[in-house]
Amino acid sequence: MTKHKTLNYRVEAGGKLSGRLRVPGDKSISHRSIMLGSLADGVTEVTGFLEGEDSLATLRAFRALGVAIEGPVAGRVTIHGVGMHGLRAPGAPLDLGNSGTSMRLLTGLLAGHGVAVTLTGDSSLSGRPMKRVIEPLTRMGAFIGATEEGTAPLTIAANQPLKGIDYLLPMASAQVKSAVLLAGLYATGETSVTEPAPTRDHTERMLEGFGYSLQREGPRVSLIGGGRLKATPIDVPADISSAAFFLVGASIAEGSELLLEHVGINPTRDGVITILRLMGADIELANERLVGGEPVADIRVRSSHLKGIEIPEHLVPLAIDEFPAIFIAAACAEGTTTLTGAAELRVKESDRIQVMAEGLQVLGIKADPTPDGIRITGGLLEGGRVESHGDHRIAMAFAMAALRASKTIEILDCANVNTSFPGFVSLAACSGLRIEAQE
Ligand code: S3P
Repeated sequence: MTKHKTLNYRVEAGGKLSGRLRVPGDKSISHRSIMLGSLADGVTEVTGFLEGEDSLATLRAFRALGVAIEGPVAGRVTIHGVGMHGLRAPGAPLDLGNSGTSMRLLTGLLAGHGVAVTLTGDSSLSGRPMKRVIEPLTRMGAFIGATEEGTAPLTIAANQPLKGIDYLLPMASAQVKSAVLLAGLYATGETSVTEPAPTRDHTERMLEGFGYSLQREGPRVSLIGGGRLKATPIDVPADISSAAFFLVGASIAEGSELLLEHVGINPTRDGVITILRLMGADIELANERLVGGEPVADIRVRSSHLKGIEIPEHLVPLAIDEFPAIFIAAACAEGTTTLTGAAELRVKESDRIQVMAEGLQVLGIKADPTPDGIRITGGLLEGGRVESHGDHRIAMAFAMAALRASKTIEILDCANVNTSFPGFVSLAACSGLRIEAQE
């Protein structure tokens, strides 16, 4: 993967957001479309594919594993599936860049395969915890080498016979759940995962879309290994995690009104809408429909007076990627917002609790981190220079903060916005954000 150039954002204070826009495709669904399309029998046509670095890392990895994949061209990808056992050993380690989803899901998918593979990533991904997938996969019979700290590079041995397990997930993680289920496709007997709280269920929905039978009973999902996948077209909805920055931006900037089109509103992902509404946001869903097994809607958001809340813990996994944006809403709200039960935020692309607290403090906001959350007291945002620590969602969240700031906000190290939201600067600028990227 190419080394990114240094890229900073300079966002002038003030402005409002208006118009109608479609943010890029859902990252989680884009990854899974490549993975399942590659293993399927037949040709899978994907539309709305996210052409961001993370999902492209998955696409390149499957090309290196011998799958013929055309595109992406304007979000269209054609995958010539090789069947469950058709992957070939790659000639070199697979570099997954910044993408935790690629690494954790691929580890599960390859654990019982006939190919030996090494997975590497950038410095952020190389520091992220992988024991959470290694442990259950090893119990299934996989052999996965890692550093002493349980981090990448990961080496996955070929031809390890796997057996199904009954796995009680120790943390609410869709990546771990998915890794175990994908390994379960290659295991003898039944593999089940029971989660402590609902997490995104795109793997389950897409497996069913590819004709694989699953049992879902409350928090438990199970499947029997040894089946096959049948190619099916996939229309990837716009990513609610990318829409979240605009939901917050339009909510906090007076006089804003935006229509966000074709956004995925899967109930395991819509916590940001619930949380912003609890804070008083004016958000309406229209034209709700089901697209390829995933619920989709157009979302209208208008500016509103937000108030601080205690965020209910059960909403945390349903909004896990949206907290950087939600913290900006909290900084603009009247009163205090308290988040608990969100220690997972500390092991994302950056320590999102610490990094957001530091950035908010630079902007003059009282933000007190706790081991599993944060307390933010709304106030007047000043300008200043904020570090994103190479975390795409931190960079975009602080860009939206400028809508309510008294002076310019500069955000450092923003190149990784390209991992999830290519075109962010121009789309945000067209909607009214006074943003400029500076190399
Ligand atoms: C994802 C699951 C979540 C999320 C990530 C994408 C997925 O991670 O934060 O951006 O596609 O399964 P965890 O499973 O680590 O919570």
